[in-house]
Amino acid sequence: TIIRREDYRPPAWFIPSIALDFQLGLDHTVVHSLLDVRRSKSAKYEEPLLLDGDGLIPTAVKVDGEAWTDWQLIDGNLQLSLPGTAHEVEITVEIDPSTNTQLMGLYASQDMLCTQCEAEGFRRITFFPDRPDILSRYSVRMEGDKKTFPVLLCNGDKVAEGEVDNGRHWAQWNDPWPKPSYLFALVAGDLVANTDSFTTRSGKPVELNIWVRDGDLPRTGHAMQALKDSMRWDEEVYGREYDLGLFNIVAVSDFNMGAMENKGLNIFNSRYILADPEVATDADFDGIEGVVAHEYFHNWSGNRVTCRDWFQLSLKEGFTVYRDQSFSADMGSAALKRIEDVRILRAAQFPEDAGPLAHPIRPESYQEISNFYTATVYNKGAEVIRMMATLLGAERFRKGTDLYFDRHDGEAATCEDFVVAMEDGGEIDLGKFRGWYRTPGTPRVSAKLSHNPQTGTAKLDLKQSLSANGAPQQPSEMVIPIKIALLDPVTGAHEGEQLVTLDQAAQSFTFEGQKDHPILSINRGFSAPIILESSRTAEELAFLSSHDDDPFARFEAMQQLMASYLVAQVTGTPADRDIILQAIGAVLADDKIDRAFLAELIQLPSEAFLGDQMIEVDPQTIHDAREKLRGKIGVQFERKFRRLYNQCEPGAFSLDAAARADRKLRNVTLGYIAASQVEDAAALAFDQYRDANNMTAMQGALGVLSHMDAEERTWALEDFFKRFKDNALVLDKWFTLQAMSQRSDTVKRVERLANHPEFTLSNPNRVRALYAGFTNNQVRFHDPSGKGYQMIADMVIELDGQNPQTAARFIPSLGRWRRFERGRSDLMRLALEKIAGAPNLSKDVSEQVSKSLA
Ligand code: ARG
Ligand code: ZN
Repeated sequence: TIIRREDYRPPAWFIPSIALDFQLGLDHTVVHSLLDVRRSKSAKYEEPLLLDGDGLIPTAVKVDGEAWTDWQLIDGNLQLSLPGTAHEVEITVEIDPSTNTQLMGLYASQDMLCTQCEAEGFRRITFFPDRPDILSRYSVRMEGDKKTFPVLLCNGDKVAEGEVDNGRHWAQWNDPWPKPSYLFALVAGDLVANTDSFTTRSGKPVELNIWVRDGDLPRTGHAMQALKDSMRWDEEVYGREYDLGLFNIVAVSDFNMGAMENKGLNIFNSRYILADPEVATDADFDGIEGVVAHEYFHNWSGNRVTCRDWFQLSLKEGFTVYRDQSFSADMGSAALKRIEDVRILRAAQFPEDAGPLAHPIRPESYQEISNFYTATVYNKGAEVIRMMATLLGAERFRKGTDLYFDRHDGEAATCEDFVVAMEDGGEIDLGKFRGWYRTPGTPRVSAKLSHNPQTGTAKLDLKQSLSANGAPQQPSEMVIPIKIALLDPVTGAHEGEQLVTLDQAAQSFTFEGQKDHPILSINRGFSAPIILESSRTAEELAFLSSHDDDPFARFEAMQQLMASYLVAQVTGTPADRDIILQAIGAVLADDKIDRAFLAELIQLPSEAFLGDQMIEVDPQTIHDAREKLRGKIGVQFERKFRRLYNQCEPGAFSLDAAARADRKLRNVTLGYIAASQVEDAAALAFDQYRDANNMTAMQGALGVLSHMDAEERTWALEDFFKRFKDNALVLDKWFTLQAMSQRSDTVKRVERLANHPEFTLSNPNRVRALYAGFTNNQVRFHDPSGKGYQMIADMVIELDGQNPQTAARFIPSLGRWRRFERGRSDLMRLALEKIAGAPNLSKDVSEQVSKSLA
């Protein structure tokens, strides 16, 4: 069945409060619920009470204290025909968390119990109107064996606890804040806490706990610091204070997604909590900071103001991603953060927008909502919020968010409510801007700057067009805020950044006082999520790569310079390589450049990004062209790279910006030294591996070795396995590194790794480590034999029986089949058809596969 946005109807019954009782057991849990049900005053008909259920059978039903038999199970949902307007409904169900391999609802992760309810997992715990516009007060009593579950956690505050017979104990938790069922959470297990505290700016103390397994306690410090920084930041930047006396985080090793913002009890994939320098890379540390902040920020953008229905998902996710991006930019380098955000957008969202699964940030329909936790809803959603912030300016944007929180506190709101708050608070008309909520596809903007020396004017001609799902480009009228600057062609100076807003299919902007033909710096800071086609020459791009004062635009100029050369190589059109070498030479010689930024500047665009620039992707040709250029750059600057490599030699480990920059540049220069094919490359990488006192250096060295034929590669991989086989998160890296290898035997190796004793389909992190590593390896996943596709198809079919949500995540890698050259395209489609023909497919997988083949 297809759920449509336009079909939204307000609920016929509300549940102002619910009392839950859990008799916990790993393979047998009894859930008793008591619902206070009220018929909606606006309901026109005597509609029955419909309670969602998934895989549940009621063992007892009571209404107002009396046994009640007038109920029906319809498609797993419980329907009760109730007279009148208010009742107490009691339901008992029994569930088995140990067999819950979907990891939705209440499930066992090793020997602990935990929950994941967003989006529709609560209905796997008890019968309930499992939709986000039903807000209820929860009181929860949980009871279980004291030895198995010494720690009992739930949302809100613990108000009582005690012991009962047979070694059992219980805790009573009340959450004073009404919430939708998707924010319910419960954890029971043998856990220890890193405990700290935070005092809100109005002086209220908050107890903070990060709960982990015993041995992991020393790896929780970074997450705790991130939490405290987030709490302070949200007070300072958005005026938002925390609203309970307790904030709990639990790290879980089996988890479908990154983390979950349950009220007062965030549950995390352990990879976004646990870190120390020996096991976590700098990127891992950043991931932790960003996700801890993200989930904390949801307390306001998500929990206090929630979503009316799941079509509004971007209301909380787009806004919260924007908030966590801004936070990370403030904590570290804003320039590096922006480059990272755009890299993710281009790697994950642009392909989505260009393929068969394209959807607007506010989808119009879905079959399975889990399939819409996408880069479009999250990351493009964040870009849409960012554009509003750009159009309004910081001060008016803050007025808009204040008004939004104020108006909708305690409500289930819509994307439209957010835009209206921006309009009212920011005193702006966003009428046409709403196109971003309705329109799939990435807008293309073509830009041409011309100059008239007589009048001293420069004219910028902009045109926009749009296409989705491979359809031809059509003129479009999106509202696109574009930051530009006109640079002096000699000095690179300019008279200030300007914001031009394109809101028609074609528009021209004129700039006075331009004696010489200026150089166009455009979409500075990536002010709009578009594909820019500028008529700038290679010389102009090279100039910008050494002169632009906007770090993103500078980075982008270098990327464009390299990308257009490589695309030309692949399509067999002549292009100038020397200008790239000169541009790289210039930035390498610029000793004012921050080392981390230099590392970004000199990296080539990814093979996937290059593929996205082409009408028909031939992975091998792209790979070869890119490797050739890498090799040339390596040879040309070998001595310089070696000097930089040695200058970046690490001292004692530190997470400060300079030390991190050194680690980053060291890894990038090592890559280029290896690309130059010098004889000592493997030895150099092996030395780095052996001497490393941190995971960033270790993984960097292994990454370089993983592509090589040298025996050092075998030694290092064997050593790494031996050292880290007991640390699941690090072992994941071992799988990923091999799956990402450019070696021609990678398909075979991945096949073998799937049979490795440490591999399992029941842990989503392990599955992603191996198979997402592989599908992201463009040249090897797209092995012309089609073996890579078959492997993914077989894996999806098997995994779908256990964990549909994670299985469905792999469909998009095959779903882009129309973009590839004929031979591969056919084989990809065959793999999709094989999945489509498998029996008993989940809603998750069948929606993605059928859309991909349509
Ligand atoms: N709301 C969570 C977050 O963004 C993600 C939960 C996704 N869950 C799911 N079943 N798709 O932080
Ligand atoms: Zn989120």
